[in-house]
Amino acid sequence: MKILVTGASGFIGSHTVDLLLQEGHDVVGVDDLSTGKIENLQYANVRKNFTFVESDISGSKRGIHSLVGEFKPDSIIHLAALVSVPVSVKDPSLNFELNIRLIHEVLESARLNDVRRIVFASSAAVYGSATNLPLTEDHPTNPITPYGTAKLFGEHMLRSYFQNYGIEYVAFRYFNVYGPRQDPKSPYSGVMSIFVDRLRASLGVEVFGDGQQTRDFISVSDVARFNSLALNSSRIESGTYNLCTGKQSTLMELLDCIASTLDVRPDVCNRPSRAGDIRHSVGCNRKLGAMFNTLPTTTLETGISSWISDIQI
Ligand code: UD1
Repeated sequence: MKILVTGASGFIGSHTVDLLLQEGHDVVGVDDLSTGKIENLQYANVRKNFTFVESDISGSKRGIHSLVGEFKPDSIIHLAALVSVPVSVKDPSLNFELNIRLIHEVLESARLNDVRRIVFASSAAVYGSATNLPLTEDHPTNPITPYGTAKLFGEHMLRSYFQNYGIEYVAFRYFNVYGPRQDPKSPYSGVMSIFVDRLRASLGVEVFGDGQQTRDFISVSDVARFNSLALNSSRIESGTYNLCTGKQSTLMELLDCIASTLDVRPDVCNRPSRAGDIRHSVGCNRKLGAMFNTLPTTTLETGISSWISDIQI
């Protein structure tokens, strides 16, 4: 199978590329290296079945149309995006370019080149404020931010291209993904990468609010596995799927788990709750399990300990 991965050198992209290569697929990865890092492709770049193209696929030079025309992939996994929710609020035009116009171009390039299937990185941000938990796929979608709205647009366009042109699709609504290669240094970094980074350096951490807020943390290794299943399963039911563990962890549980794995006592500074923070988030993964006959398997404890041993190698 020939697969095009957009956003290949990013956090989720690079883990997905590595797994697809291990499974023996021919992979073309594209990334403009704006947030992704070439070091993330260390394993991939020495593999014969991998081609890396450094390009901005939203641009006219080696854009998505020319790449899909040149490589003729069977499937595309589209992970390239503006990934920061707060940046989408500050710069909605950039969000439009990268998260709305680009999915349209990806779909058009697929239609014009007979691509069979697209896997798309959507987000739990499409739900907005939850009215009931756990979030199921039929929970109302009321995204609050330009980012969440763009992801929902992407899901609808994928459905429309499936219905009108027969291009199969899976849109995964990612919950809080964590693991190796997640950048801890951005002000918008996920809490886990910040905590791991700071505790390893014997620095204190900030906890916004009482620490009893909950999230559904999913390991990037599980995310890569489901991305591959969505690309490669012979029969799929096109649609949207929560990609989550169904387990709710409080921030303090998370902190304890990281601290005990590193064998440190965390120095915690309590801060007021972050504006706009949601209190609880957890997804239902029943639809996911029914489609793929498997569920995410990595517990928080094993995910954290394998991440930390990976950094220490
Ligand atoms: C995620 C997105 C966010 C988006 C939201 C809605 C990421 C990194 N963030 O936020 O942009 O608006 O989904 O879908 O993907 N926290 C601390 N200390 C820290 C950092 C964070 O206490 O140093 C707290 C936060 O206040 C929050 C929790 O940890 O309560 C999780 O934060 P974060 O990892 O940013 O994820 P979300 O809040 O789920």
